Amino acid sequence: MIEAIIFILAYLLGSIPSGLIVGKLGYGIDIREHGSGNLGGTNTFRTLGVKAGLIVTSADILKGTLASALPSLFFNSDLNSLLVGVFAVIGHTYPIFAKFKGGKAVATSAGLLLFSAPVMFITILAFFFIVLYITKYVSLSSMLAGVYGIIYSLFTKDIPLIIVISLLTVFVIYRHRANIKRIINKTEPKVKWL
Ligand code: G3P
Repeated sequence: MIEAIIFILAYLLGSIPSGLIVGKLGYGIDIREHGSGNLGGTNTFRTLGVKAGLIVTSADILKGTLASALPSLFFNSDLNSLLVGVFAVIGHTYPIFAKFKGGKAVATSAGLLLFSAPVMFITILAFFFIVLYITKYVSLSSMLAGVYGIIYSLFTKDIPLIIVISLLTVFVIYRHRANIKRIINKTEPKVKWL
């Protein structure tokens, strides 16, 4: 019973549509009607600027981190924190509070790593920024960071971690189908500030 409550809470936490809240309350704008149409940090940066982008990205990361912390912080449960974090990623991607149209799973996945494997989180983040510096594509950097995460996780020999990172990376790539087409067609927007 307590496990079900934790999973539901994690999903609801992930479902909080931070991009929608910041866009609508702070700027009177629905970011889903602008840029890539994605309810995520990158599209918030693109549509509303640095301040809003940082707030939304941080909030989306925090959702994964807090969800992963639920078993140990609030319920004294042995549930695997990675698995609970996955429910926040599902909520972020298919949010009950935003007609099940959410983000592309990157920031919230990073958030669950921040809780369960913080060193790995920092290493993947550094890799992400190196690829972003070279390619200027956030989407490509996100997908390659996931692939790097899989390779990194293999060295840890931590089977749950390897499985969760692999599944999340496949899911992240699946969510970036439109971005992949745009990269191939050379119509994917590049970041201008790097
Ligand atoms: O985190 C999502 C990012 O990788 C791509 O977002 O808005 O460019 O589709 P967007």
